[in-house]
Parts: sequence; C-alpha cells; structure tokens
Amino acid sequence: MKSLYFIAVVIIALVFPGTRTYAAEQDPCLACHVEFKKPAVSVHAVLASGCQACHTAVESKRHPEQKNSIALIRKIPGLCYDCHDRSQFKGKSVHPPVIIDTCTACHNPHQSDFKWLLVKNIPGLCFECHTESKFKDKSVHPPVGEGLCMSCHVPHASNFTKMLIHDTPELCYRCHDRKIFTKKHVHVPAAVPNGCNLCHNPHVSGTQNLLLHPVFDLCTSCHSGQKEGMHILGSMHLGYGASIHPVKGVEDPSDPPKQLTCISCHNPHSSDFRNLYVTKNLCKKCHKEFF
Ligand code: HEC
Ligand code: HEC
Ligand code: HEC
Ligand code: HEC
Ligand code: HEC
Ligand code: HEC
Ligand code: HEC
Ligand code: HEC
Ligand code: HEC
Ligand code: HEC
Ligand code: HEC
Repeated sequence: MKSLYFIAVVIIALVFPGTRTYAAEQDPCLACHVEFKKPAVSVHAVLASGCQACHTAVESKRHPEQKNSIALIRKIPGLCYDCHDRSQFKGKSVHPPVIIDTCTACHNPHQSDFKWLLVKNIPGLCFECHTESKFKDKSVHPPVGEGLCMSCHVPHASNFTKMLIHDTPELCYRCHDRKIFTKKHVHVPAAVPNGCNLCHNPHVSGTQNLLLHPVFDLCTSCHSGQKEGMHILGSMHLGYGASIHPVKGVEDPSDPPKQLTCISCHNPHSSDFRNLYVTKNLCKKCHKEFF
C-alpha cells in the first residue's frame, strides 16, 4: 500500500510539476480537461470552488492512465442533496427520473449550452422520454406549441397531481380570465379540482377548443338523457306546453352555417342565467317569430 501511495504521489508530481496533491493547485484538473475553460450558457456555480467539491483522486490509482482513478465523493443524488434542499424533490407527485435518482438524465453536472445546466432545451428534453407526437395535433394549446411546459409543470415534484404548478382551475386562471368561469351559476365540472380536464386536453386536440370530444358527444357523455338528440323543454317557456326541441342535425339560425348543438343554448362554463343559458331571453335568440 505504502509503495503504491508513493508511486501515486510521484506521478501526480510529474503531471503537475511543483505540486504534490491536486488540492495544492487552484485547478490542476483543467490542465488536461480544457473543455471546462470554454464559456457556456450556464455554469454550475460550485465549479468555482474546484473539481474537488465533487471528485476525488483514488489514491491507489494513476489518473488518467488507470480506469476509475477519479471517484465522486458521494453517489448521486446524495451528492446533489449535500447542497440542494431535498424538500423540493418530494411531494404528492414526483417525476419518475427523480424517484430513481437520475439527475444527470436532465442536468450536466458541470456546464451546458442551455439554461439550468440542462442537457437539452425544453421541450426537446421532455421529448427524450415523452412521445413528441402526443403534443402535435390539429389544435395546439399556445403555451404547449411554444414549448413552455414549465408554465404549468415543475420538473421535479409538486404537491398537486401530474407535477402541476397548481390544480385546475387555478392553474388555468394564471392565463385565462377567471370571470368567464365564475359567473352566478357555475357548471359543476368547471368548478371542481381538475374539472377543466374532464372536457379539455391541456396540450392538444383533434377537435376545436382543445375538447376531448366533439361538443354533442362530450355533453351527452355525462348527460345521457339528452342522447336522443332531442330535448324536452319545460312548459314555462312562452306558454308553450312541454315540447321536444331539436338539439342537433339542424342549422343554428343565430349563427349559420354552424349546426345547432348544446352550446347554442348552454354556456359550458358558467352563466348569469339559470340552466347556464347563453343569454337572458334564450328563445328570442333564434325564434324572432315568437316575439
Ligand atoms: C494529465 C491530464 C489529466 C489531468 C491532470 C486530469 N485528467 Fe481527468 N482525464 C484525463 C483523460 C485523458 C481522461 C479520459 C480517460 C478516458 O477517456 O478513458 C480523463 C478522465 C476523467 C474522468 C472520467 C473517467 C474516470 O476516470 O472516471 C474524470 C471524472 C476526470 N478525468 C476527472 C479529473 C479530475 C477531477 C481531475 C483533477 C483532480 C483530473 N481529471 C485531472 C486526463 C487528465
Ligand atoms: C457538482 C459536482 C461536480 C463538480 C464540481 C465537478 N464534477 Fe465532474 N462529474 C460530476 C458528476 C455527477 C459526473 C457524472 C458521473 C456519472 O455520470 O457517473 C461527473 C463526470 C465528470 C467527467 C466524466 C465525463 C463527463 O463529462 O461526464 C469528467 C471528465 C469530469 N467530471 C471532470 C470534472 C472536472 C475537470 C471538474 C472541475 C473543473 C469537475 N468534473 C467538477 C460532478 C461534478
Ligand atoms: C458543493 C455544493 C453543490 C453540489 C454538491 C451540487 N450543487 Fe448544484 N449548485 C450549487 C450552487 C452554489 C449553485 C448556485 C446557487 C443556486 O442556484 O442555488 C448550484 C446551482 C445548480 C443548478 C442551477 C444552475 C443554474 O443555471 O441556475 C442546478 C441545475 C444544479 N445546481 C444541479 C446540481 C446537481 C444535479 C447536482 C448533483 C450532481 C448538484 N447541483 C450538486 C452547489 C452545489
Ligand atoms: C426530467 C428532467 C429533470 C430531472 C430528472 C432533474 N431535473 Fe433539475 N431541473 C429540470 C428543469 C427543467 C429545471 C428548470 C426549472 C425551471 O425552469 O424552473 C431544473 C432546475 C433545477 C435546479 C435549479 C432550480 C431550483 O429549483 O433550484 C436544481 C438545483 C436542480 N434542478 C437539481 C436537480 C437534482 C438534484 C436532480 C436529481 C435529484 C434533478 N434536478 C433532476 C429538470 C430536471
Ligand atoms: C429521463 C426521462 C424523462 C425526461 C427527460 C422527462 N420525463 Fe416526464 N416522465 C418520465 C417517466 C418515465 C414518467 C412516468 C411515465 C409517463 O407518465 O410517461 C414521466 C411522467 C411525467 C409526468 C406525469 C407525472 C405523474 O405524476 O403522472 C409529467 C407531467 C412529466 N413527466 C412531465 C415532463 C416534462 C415537462 C419534461 C421536460 C421538462 C419531462 N417530463 C422530461 C420520464 C422523463
Ligand atoms: C397549459 C398547461 C400545460 C402545459 C403548457 C403543459 N401541460 Fe402537461 N399537463 C397539464 C395538465 C393539466 C395535465 C394533467 C392532465 C390530466 O390529469 O388529465 C398534464 C399532464 C401531462 C403529462 C402526463 C400525461 C398523462 O396523460 O397523464 C405529461 C407527460 C405532460 N403533461 C407533459 C407535458 C410536456 C412535455 C409539456 C410541454 C411540451 C406540457 N406537458 C405542457 C397541463 C399542461
Ligand atoms: C401559460 C398560459 C396559459 C395557461 C396556464 C393556460 N392557457 Fe389556455 N390558452 C393560453 C393562450 C395564450 C391561448 C390562446 C389565446 C386565448 O384563446 O386566450 C389559450 C387558449 C386556450 C383554449 C382555446 C384553444 C383554441 O383551440 O382556441 C382553451 C380551450 C384553453 N386555453 C384551455 C386551458 C385550460 C383548460 C387551462 C388549464 C389546464 C389553460 N388553458 C391554461 C394560455 C394558457
Ligand atoms: C363541460 C365541459 C367543459 C368544462 C368542464 C370546461 N370547458 Fe372550457 N370549453 C368547453 C366547450 C364546449 C368550449 C367551446 C365553447 C364555444 O365554442 O363557444 C370551451 C371553450 C373554452 C375556452 C376557449 C373559448 C372561450 O370561452 O374563451 C377556454 C379558454 C376554456 N374553455 C377554458 C376552460 C377552463 C379554464 C376550464 C376549467 C375552469 C374549462 N374550460 C372547463 C367545455 C368545457
Ligand atoms: C364530466 C361530466 C359532465 C360533462 C362532460 C357535462 N356536464 Fe353538464 N353537468 C354535470 C353535472 C355534475 C351537473 C350538475 C348536476 C346536475 O344538475 O345534474 C351538470 C349540470 C348541467 C346543467 C344544469 C345546470 C344548472 O344550473 O342547473 C346544464 C344545462 C348542463 N350541465 C349542460 C352541459 C353541457 C351543455 C355540456 C357540454 C358542453 C355538459 N353539461 C357537459 C356534469 C357534466
Ligand atoms: C335550443 C336550446 C337548447 C339546446 C340546443 C340544448 N338545451 Fe339543454 N336546456 C334548454 C332549456 C330551455 C332547458 C330548460 C328546460 C326546463 O327547464 O324544462 C334545458 C335544460 C338542460 C339541462 C338541465 C335540466 C335537465 O334536463 O336535467 C341539461 C343538463 C341540459 N339542458 C343539457 C343539454 C345538453 C347536453 C344539450 C345537447 C345535447 C342541450 N342541453 C341542448 C335548452 C337547450
Ligand atoms: C340556438 C337557436 C335556438 C334557440 C335558442 C331555441 N330554438 Fe327552438 N328551434 C331552433 C331550431 C333550429 C328549430 C328547428 C327549426 C326547423 O326544424 O326548421 C327550432 C324549433 C323549435 C320549435 C318547433 C317549432 C317549429 O317551427 O317547428 C319550437 C316549439 C321551439 N323551437 C321552441 C323553442 C323555445 C321555447 C325556445 C326557448 C326555450 C327555443 N326554441 C330556443 C333553434 C333554437
């Protein structure tokens, strides 16, 4: 052992003339690892205190001639948690790569050409593991199209589901006017936590307005009573008796050439009028003949 140690010291002394140990020189490692002298978009602040903050020479081995001659002072992620508060990596939902401790799947421990020491730009980084085609369709939510995944998600862990910054609807109110959704009468699914997702895909959709299904199918998936395509209107309207009213298959006279559908009469989110009517005098919207 003693002689091996002696050899190591001699070799280190040969590699770095005038020095005895790595620690004795400011940055002896940079003599060979010149890539660390290149400027980068983000540089791990800890590099300023030297490579030894994380690496250590294995005494019995010569570097670089021998394999594994440099070791990490501690395994990942313990190494990272020495300096980064572990609590931000815990929560109700934790990203699987964080659960299995692969910080370096996303971060370069030294420096990088992208912000936050990332190994790739967002959303390219996310598409390394998440199928990109799932984020492409006829209609794309603008923040998704612009690659702003972090406007809704956190990268490591959160106290909400799916690593969200917040549950919906609060999440959505960060960008959409809350007043539209909080009028006098609120549609139950638009008010409950994560209810927006019962009707909308937050990323992309093949249907207008990021809907999960075309309007008629969407509404009748919960209101199966209206599935027949007909709607029994109560007798309080205009003195008519109970009447069967069409809800599809005809043009909407108030908005041609669009087809009549549930949202011709009901607001899907909230309304100041009962039954979520889109307007106060609902019948008048289309039936000028009655008035
Ligand atoms: C004499 C030049 C030289 C010096 C000085 C040097 N290295 Fe290296 N190092 C290399 C070379 C060459 C390789 C690549 C070896 C390979 O690819 O197998 C390497 C590989 C490495 C590796 C990856 C492979 C391994 O052995 O784990 C680490 C980590 C490393 N060096 C860290 C350091 C640190 C930390 C220092 C300073 C304490 C340092 N090096 C000083 C030349 C040097
Ligand atoms: C914040 C801790 C930290 C600091 C400081 C640090 N490294 Fe590393 N280094 C790592 C980790 C983590 C790895 C990856 C090990 C792995 O993936 O198994 C690594 C890997 C390497 C490798 C292997 C090739 C590569 O790039 O992945 C080299 C070479 C290396 N470091 C050199 C250096 C040098 C030279 C310095 C000082 C300028 C330095 N490191 C400072 C944490 C650090
Ligand atoms: C010896 C202390 C130390 C260790 C170990 C350490 N870091 Fe850091 N790290 C810092 C400091 C200091 C900063 C800059 C101040 C800050 O943002 O907290 C930083 C910043 C960062 C940043 C933000 C970079 C930026 O561009 O703003 C990332 C990402 C990061 N560290 C990841 C890691 C990972 C991953 C590991 C483990 C491989 C690690 N750190 C280990 C001290 C450390
Ligand atoms: C799936 C990719 C991914 C993984 C895995 C990951 N990170 Fe990050 N990390 C990011 C992204 C993206 C950001 C930038 C966050 C932002 O834009 O607000 C970030 C930011 C950071 C920051 C700086 C900002 C802050 O919150 O302080 C640190 C430190 C950090 N990560 C450490 C780690 C550590 C330690 C691990 C492993 C336990 C890890 N990361 C695993 C993607 C990841
Ligand atoms: C190293 C691989 C990897 C990278 C990179 C990665 N993820 Fe993941 N992510 C996973 C795995 C594995 C799962 C669990 C399986 C799944 O849902 O696809 C997951 C799940 C998720 C979930 C659902 C979490 C839950 O609680 O169900 C979200 C949200 C997510 N990732 C967002 C992102 C974002 C945003 C990025 C880019 C910043 C990203 N991921 C980058 C591997 C990765
Ligand atoms: C406008 C906010 C928003 C943006 C921007 C956003 N997401 Fe999401 N994401 C969500 C919501 C909300 C959910 C939960 C959906 C649910 O529970 O049905 C989710 C779920 C996920 C999941 C889990 C998948 C699943 O079906 O369970 C992954 C993975 C994911 N997002 C990745 C990404 C990536 C990658 C990006 C950027 C390209 C991104 N997200 C941008 C809001 C967003
Ligand atoms: C980071 C900002 C941001 C967040 C958060 C956000 N959105 Fe959006 N959203 C936009 C922008 C920008 C538009 C396009 C302009 C507009 O219609 O207001 C848009 C448009 C929409 C549209 C209409 C899309 C179309 O095809 O016309 C729907 C539906 C939508 N968002 C639903 C949601 C839901 C549901 C949430 C919460 C899960 C949410 N948004 C969160 C920014 C955001
Ligand atoms: C019951 C299903 C349903 C729920 C729940 C729902 N939406 Fe909608 N949303 C729709 C329909 C249908 C449209 C299309 C309206 C139209 O074309 O007039 C729409 C349109 C939108 C639009 C774009 C048009 C506009 O009105 O500005 C946004 C933004 C939106 N929804 C956000 C949300 C948010 C945020 C939530 C949660 C608070 C939510 N939605 C909950 C069905 C729903
Ligand atoms: C995820 C299930 C779900 C979907 C999808 C859904 N609803 Fe509802 N809706 C409800 C619940 C729950 C209530 C409240 C309980 C009740 O009154 O039956 C409700 C109530 C209503 C009411 C009565 C409101 C009141 O103030 O009395 C109307 C009108 C209505 N929905 C229309 C629609 C329309 C139009 C659509 C399609 C855009 C739709 N719903 C889609 C679950 C849903
Ligand atoms: C032509 C306008 C119109 C259309 C189109 C329409 N509704 Fe209605 N809806 C009404 C009126 C008016 C009432 C009130 C009936 C009453 O009070 O007797 C009502 C009541 C309701 C109610 C609450 C009362 C109940 O029956 O539970 C629900 C739920 C509802 N509609 C869902 C739908 C769905 C789903 C669609 C599409 C399949 C739809 N509506 C299409 C006008 C319409
Ligand atoms: C969004 C437009 C729209 C609204 C609002 C609307 N209707 Fe209609 N209504 C229609 C259409 C379209 C038809 C079918 C006309 C046709 O078959 O040519 C129709 C047919 C009728 C009929 C059958 C009469 C006929 O001409 O055969 C009655 C009765 C009726 N509506 C009553 C009402 C009442 C009562 C209300 C208010 C509760 C109402 N409608 C609201 C669009 C609407």
